[in-house]
Amino acid sequence: MARCLRLPPAQREALEEAALGAADCARLLETRALDRLLNDAIGPHWEYLVCGSPPCSTRTAPPPQPPRRSTPGPAVGEGVRLRLDILEIAACFAQRVEFLPYELLTTEQVLDELHCVAQELAINPAVVAALGSLQRVRLEQLVERVYRLPVFPLVALRALDLARSEDSSVSAIEKLVCSDQVLAGRLIQTANSSLYSPVRRISSLRQAISYIGLEAARRLLIAAVFHPLFASAGLKGLWRHSLEVSQLAEFLARECRRVPPEEAFLAGLVHDVGRLALQTAQGEDVIAYTRMLEQGCEPVFAEMVLCGFDHGRAGAEVLRFWSFPEHLAQAVADHHHPEHSDSDLAAIIYLAEFWTGSEEDLPSGSRVRGALKRAGLDWESLAGARLRPGGLADLLASVA
Ligand SMILES: [Fe+2]
Ligand SMILES: [Fe+2]
Repeated sequence: MARCLRLPPAQREALEEAALGAADCARLLETRALDRLLNDAIGPHWEYLVCGSPPCSTRTAPPPQPPRRSTPGPAVGEGVRLRLDILEIAACFAQRVEFLPYELLTTEQVLDELHCVAQELAINPAVVAALGSLQRVRLEQLVERVYRLPVFPLVALRALDLARSEDSSVSAIEKLVCSDQVLAGRLIQTANSSLYSPVRRISSLRQAISYIGLEAARRLLIAAVFHPLFASAGLKGLWRHSLEVSQLAEFLARECRRVPPEEAFLAGLVHDVGRLALQTAQGEDVIAYTRMLEQGCEPVFAEMVLCGFDHGRAGAEVLRFWSFPEHLAQAVADHHHPEHSDSDLAAIIYLAEFWTGSEEDLPSGSRVRGALKRAGLDWESLAGARLRPGGLADLLASVA
């Protein structure tokens, strides 16, 4: 907002520090630090503006004596008021977003509310307008970025079709994979790995599929198809997270028996493809996004601020483009607000993601309870359950 309103860099930095301080009380335990922060952000008269009173006695150094509010001089001018208004609107916006688990609002609706708040509190309307103008990434732009990524040759689309179909046989997988040397090599390599430790070296594709089993072959195939998407160094963490979520989602699906485990696995693997779109793009909006994440902002919050939608919705658009079934795309769209969805799969992905502790969104007990209820699961029994042994993680790691 400060940038949109053309505040000088020093004032922008001071405002950012003040806002971060407001969200992190430990920074403010030292009262002199607070004095300095507010002094930098708002000016020497902050105490009259914020507290309406002289400084409290605990402070060691007497602050400057500002003029009374009743006699606004040039020092308590528009600039000071503007900086206070920015802090106020930023805090209101953050609070509204924290309430989204309880009421589904679009960013536009939140902005409409803030316009009303601004009117009531006599806040400069330009501040709310500046917040609205932060939405610089349109959904179509974001999705276009994923289309341009070097993935999805024909064999990959066929592999997905095959993986989704219940009656994929050894020969069907063999027929498909033999046309792609890299995929064929992966399957043979995995069959010869220490995970499977064959007595004799496996050299043919058919042998490899039969040896590791149809189910493992299908999973490996899907993971191998998606891996090139995450090939750059900066995306390794996201790839590992996707593998982890796919494994947990499959486990939860087996526990609740409401969703086919294969489908949960696939949904887990692609659930954050919208984040991929944001993280691989270039431009000022991405710099702002990356910076917000570095400052500790949850990705969903940053996306709502910068785009007006979250990565779930962006990912769903990508999956539709890739001809994924609509119910799977919808589950990905809703995976950060499963309470507003009819999809059991959305609840499962949310829980799997929560379980990994990835902190993509503000934590919400209400959401977790709602998702457990929808999936027919309870946390106590899950906490006691052990993930099915069998080395799925090791198997998938062979793709990483
Ligand atoms: Fe995720
Ligand atoms: Fe996510």
